[in-house]
Amino acid sequence: MTSKIHAAITGVQGYVPDYILTNAELEKMVDTNDEWIRTRTGIEQRHILKGEGQGTSVMGIEAVKGLLEKTDTDPGEVELVICATVTPDMVFPDTANIIADETGMKNAFCYDIHAACSGFLYALTTAARFIESGAHKKVIVVGGDKMSSIIDYTDRTTCVIFGDGAGAVLLEATEEPVGIMDALLKSDGSGREYLYQKAGGSRYPATADTVANREHFVFQNGRPVFKAAVSGMSDVVTQVMQRNGLSADDIAWLVPHQANKRIIETVARMANFPMERVMVNIHRYGNTTAGTLPLCLWDWEGQLKKGDNIILTAFGGGFTWGAVYLKWAY
Ligand SMILES: CC(C)(COP(=O)(O)OP(=O)(O)OC[C@H]1O[C@@H](n2cnc3c(N)ncnc32)[C@H](O)[C@@H]1OP(=O)(O)O)[C@@H](O)C(=O)NCCC(=O)NCCS
Repeated sequence: MTSKIHAAITGVQGYVPDYILTNAELEKMVDTNDEWIRTRTGIEQRHILKGEGQGTSVMGIEAVKGLLEKTDTDPGEVELVICATVTPDMVFPDTANIIADETGMKNAFCYDIHAACSGFLYALTTAARFIESGAHKKVIVVGGDKMSSIIDYTDRTTCVIFGDGAGAVLLEATEEPVGIMDALLKSDGSGREYLYQKAGGSRYPATADTVANREHFVFQNGRPVFKAAVSGMSDVVTQVMQRNGLSADDIAWLVPHQANKRIIETVARMANFPMERVMVNIHRYGNTTAGTLPLCLWDWEGQLKKGDNIILTAFGGGFTWGAVYLKWAY
């Protein structure tokens, strides 16, 4: 009898750019204030990638370099690189290709996934399937966004929320019962009217008008997104725990997408998690879209123990959402 192959995270590394955009600086840019931002979102600062010609790959490359080094991985052994991002360096080629080229992963095939804030969960699950099928043994998943490239810094309803950052994980095949145990991913295209970037795709290619009308920036109708995020994430987290016979007491950490601290607190309450076991770093980074989950794992890596049950959950544009149950492998 052959044992089931599991896909285990065997390393994580993050990267955020040096420049810190504080609430105080935003107060000078739009009609907002530190108190509103902290109490309505939980955000105190976000990191911004500055400089001409600097795309999301810059952050992904730094994260991957650190990951390869700390896991002592030969870049030539990595067989697949998936990059989750809604802010690719260019429409094509994929940012994953650029990251792989710059980090020496010459034998990997590479592609991007665009699933907004759920991108990392979608990419992680897809990568796990490639490993569980026996097709590949070493895969790198990058989640990262340069949200500052699609944010309108005259729109106070979005510019206070988002930041730039990236994280990367190494996934390896193992026959030990650790790694990705279950995933429940969802999409509902009818939610697209509440959160989108109108122009720059094939429907509305860039013109002088699309630029003048500020259509290359994120549009969000916050309240319906807030409600859908709370119900969507609490629903999939509860379902994943139930179908694996787990209660919140069995879970070491809940790792939620970092879009709004009030959303995180409500989801935790609805799924019966005490906040001491919920990863929250939104105050430092804001919402880095596909970057939030790997940045959480990176920040908490030192506290994680082999065998810890962890639930990741996210919600984002599309709508897209989901939950992944994994057992920490080291
Ligand atoms: C965006 C979000 C923070 C707004 O918070 P909210 O409590 O819903 O606030 P509202 O949009 O209802 O606005 C309340 C008031 O604050 C004002 N406001 C909005 N942004 C503000 C800011 N940065 N500073 C000060 N006031 C602001 C609004 O204009 C509104 O004023 P009004 O009542 O006079 O019209 C919140 O809706 C949210 O987090 N949504 C979900 C985000 C998400 O999960 N996205 C998915 C993943 S990306």
